[in-house]
Amino acid sequence: MAVIEAKNIIVESTAQQASARAAEIFRTIVKEVTSQRDLCRVALSGGSTPRAAYHHLASQVMTDGLPWPMVEIFLGDERDVPQDDTESNFYMIQRILLDNTPVNWERVHPMRADAEDIEAAANEYEQIIRQRVPAGPGGVPQFDLIMLGLGADGHIASLFPDSPAIEERRRLVVASYVPVIRRHRMSLTFPLINAARNILLLVTGSDKAEVVRQIIQGDEPHLPASWISPRDGTVHIVLDADAARLLYSN
Ligand code: 6PG
Repeated sequence: MAVIEAKNIIVESTAQQASARAAEIFRTIVKEVTSQRDLCRVALSGGSTPRAAYHHLASQVMTDGLPWPMVEIFLGDERDVPQDDTESNFYMIQRILLDNTPVNWERVHPMRADAEDIEAAANEYEQIIRQRVPAGPGGVPQFDLIMLGLGADGHIASLFPDSPAIEERRRLVVASYVPVIRRHRMSLTFPLINAARNILLLVTGSDKAEVVRQIIQGDEPHLPASWISPRDGTVHIVLDADAARLLYSN
């Protein structure tokens, strides 16, 4: 299993600086894409790590000149809770970022992971992606940017170790029951993630140091993050010093 071939591993001293760097990469990609094409399609990550990056983006909305109405926003994964539940990834992203930026709400696509029929909702989400995100060279919808966090167990989005969802090679969005958290999740799958032009993996905190070492230097096919291998895109890994502390220790 090839470890993540990250062309850009960026280590910042603090989590705040890593978040600011991730926001900068986000802004650069959006500006680049919207200067050449109509819309920039992004999938945002949930969890706690990206909160500070979303705060950075929201705090600079008046000065960064980003064409927010030209950004089409999807989620990388979602928990099986209503969108107004504080556990919801969409709730976090909306409160911190979307409510503070001039997005075009017709181009904002929450995942309905609390749907009665979560499988059907996953299929519907996949159809929205297939309709709204142009296919890349491999025939798969090609996001301009997919932001991801990293669990200490090596999961990304809601692709957890030993989950059948990791092996999915046809569907782009799946719903799955995750035994380790005893909850259902909805998640993008690797065929879609690895079709992206850019993948931005933002990881901070010393609790992630070992898994960061494993996926960058190890040979750990059981870790879902090790399966990040974009077909022709770029992986940007942004770490703070705590998350990177085992990378360069011999
Ligand atoms: C979620 C996320 C998940 C997250 C990792 C890291 O729904 O929780 O999408 O994949 O990125 O679990 O979470 P933290 O950033 O909270 O450490």
